[in-house]
Amino acid sequence: MRIVITGGAGFLGSRLAAKLLQRATLTDARGQVREISSIVLLDVAAASPPDDRRVRAIAGDLTDRESVARAVTPDTDTVFHLAAVVSGQAEADFDIGMRVNLDATRMLLEHCRSLKTPPKFVFTSSLAVFGGTLPDPVPDDAPVTPQASYGAQKAIGELLVYDMTRKGFLDGRSLRLPTVTVRPGKPNKAASSFASGIIREPLAGVDTCCPVAPTTTMWVQSPRTVIDNLIVGHEAPASAFGQTRSINVPGISVSVGDMVAALRRVAGDAVAQRVRWEFEPAIDRIVSTWPARFAPVQGPALGMRADADFESIVRAYIADDM
Ligand SMILES: NC(=O)c1ccc[n+]([C@@H]2O[C@H](COP(=O)([O-])OP(=O)(O)OC[C@H]3O[C@@H](n4cnc5c(N)ncnc54)[C@H](O)[C@@H]3O)[C@@H](O)[C@H]2O)c1
Repeated sequence: MRIVITGGAGFLGSRLAAKLLQRATLTDARGQVREISSIVLLDVAAASPPDDRRVRAIAGDLTDRESVARAVTPDTDTVFHLAAVVSGQAEADFDIGMRVNLDATRMLLEHCRSLKTPPKFVFTSSLAVFGGTLPDPVPDDAPVTPQASYGAQKAIGELLVYDMTRKGFLDGRSLRLPTVTVRPGKPNKAASSFASGIIREPLAGVDTCCPVAPTTTMWVQSPRTVIDNLIVGHEAPASAFGQTRSINVPGISVSVGDMVAALRRVAGDAVAQRVRWEFEPAIDRIVSTWPARFAPVQGPALGMRADADFESIVRAYIADDM
């Protein structure tokens, strides 16, 4: 089986590739379980692929038709579409967000559709398709109400995935991910970047600022669990999806204050005291529009799961990334 991961050099793309190599098989669009023979990582950024003959990195821009055709060849069985401009950047630069998150997603879908045997298509959407006044917790069938450009671009991407699936052009699935924490490395331009920074930086002995109030509550998931859920979303039979093709991925609801309290329990007072509270309205304006609690039914029914609690997310980061 040939798999393409767009954004394959990124945080989740590189972990997905590693997990797929370990797993060695996936189910194709005809429902057959097949061995994974090749994983292509398409990304504008340089990837450091694992040393495995099945993996190849292609440096290319998703907005460039030729790069897409070079990566997504006619023998491609699955595309995991992860490449995106993250929330803070998409809000700061409307045009780049539209170009990458929307135009390139449509071009990629059109390219897949044009192949003789279109690949299965898994699109990483986000809880940011929701915002504003919504039922608490948010049910699976809540209307999409994005309050920022990133969420709007993801919502339009979901509709494209849905409509092309409805037309029988391909088998597409959109998975609305919670905020994934703890992300290793440097802060990024996601509005939610602090949700990793307030754990990662103190554990590395570095002071950090939290730009939202301790009472701000978020819907989160660890990288380990989110990768497992992406694979569950891929493996589920087409018939298991409802009429929208979009799934609210399970998560846990935790306040930022409780995240720091969990850090304190795991690593001690001195570490937790490295978090300072400095309110930043631009970040708060985006994050506070995202719903903090969902009542997912469809995702768990497919086999998706949430982390046990935030303490286990901190411990998973220490075990996997430190
Ligand atoms: N991490 C989260 O908390 C989270 C939450 C919800 C949804 N998501 C979604 O999951 C996906 C993966 O997120 P991530 O955290 O790994 O992000 P990331 O920024 O680490 O990875 C995205 C990758 O896409 C690449 N990319 C960006 N523009 C590109 C282009 N024009 N052509 C080719 N590659 C390009 C980047 O170089 C990067 O390596 C994204 O679609 C994101 O919107 C992530």
